Amino acid sequence: MAVDHEALVAMLDRLKLTAIRDQLDEAARSEMTLREALAFFVGREIARRDERRIHMASKIFQFPFVRELDGFEFDAQPSLDPRQIRELATCCWIAHGDATLLMGPPGTGKTHLAVAVGREAIRQNYSVQFVTAATLVALLAKAHMDGTLEKQLRLLSRPKLLIIDELGYLPFEADAAHLFFQLVSRRYERGSILITSNRSVGEWGGVFGDPVVATAILDRLLHHSSMITIRGDSYRLREKRRSGLLQKAGSMLGATENTAQ
Ligand SMILES: Nc1ncnc2c1ncn2[C@@H]1O[C@H](COP(=O)(O)OP(=O)(O)O)[C@@H](O)[C@H]1O
Ligand SMILES: [Mg+2]
Repeated sequence: MAVDHEALVAMLDRLKLTAIRDQLDEAARSEMTLREALAFFVGREIARRDERRIHMASKIFQFPFVRELDGFEFDAQPSLDPRQIRELATCCWIAHGDATLLMGPPGTGKTHLAVAVGREAIRQNYSVQFVTAATLVALLAKAHMDGTLEKQLRLLSRPKLLIIDELGYLPFEADAAHLFFQLVSRRYERGSILITSNRSVGEWGGVFGDPVVATAILDRLLHHSSMITIRGDSYRLREKRRSGLLQKAGSMLGATENTAQ
């Protein structure tokens, strides 16, 4: 039976089978059985839909950029055990409601890894919310003032994974530490939290401005958790050094980034 190419494309468009439509030529070049061809086409369509879903979700969940584990150069970060990161990407810890702390100096790929793991979680149909610590604290403080704290805490407890990025860049107000504590207790053993921080947990007392609250927060976070510490150089600076940009200004920029730790 002769098939009119245009008619076929029109039918595929009508069913919104765009991945199949785009693969028609490639498939035509290969010699597949009917079943093989069907599996090939359906596989492509599913892959495209998954990618679209992840793209939409990572926008809704407010991820700052698109990063995947595949794009992470483990060679550039020898202190990091790739197996530990791959284990994170399986998302088993999310199924159990455990926490993950990802620590290291600026530019060492913490946000990259958090986003990549978050996208993996979306792929596995978990709901995820990405928020910086500063935004989170501002949200909680505002809700507290408006008398809507309960509602905000409930909202923030909904996603199965809450990614809190950049804890420690700004010290918390005493009130903020307490609000943060309420959030952590609310989510405790219910939903997972992934925190990235440029501070070691020993410094969290200073970050929260209150060692007692910091201990209470850590007590809950560390109960079922894994802690991953990156000890290495900033990838951003490494890239600049490579391109020669930093040869002269290197020491100065390096110092700036170090003081931000
Ligand atoms: N090991 C790595 N391989 C590939 N890209 C990296 C790596 N480490 C960092 N990057 C990239 O460098 C930039 C800074 O990393 P980022 O994750 O924002 O660092 P951090 O959150 O630790 O400050 C990002 O664009 C990130 O994708
Ligand atoms: Mg970051």
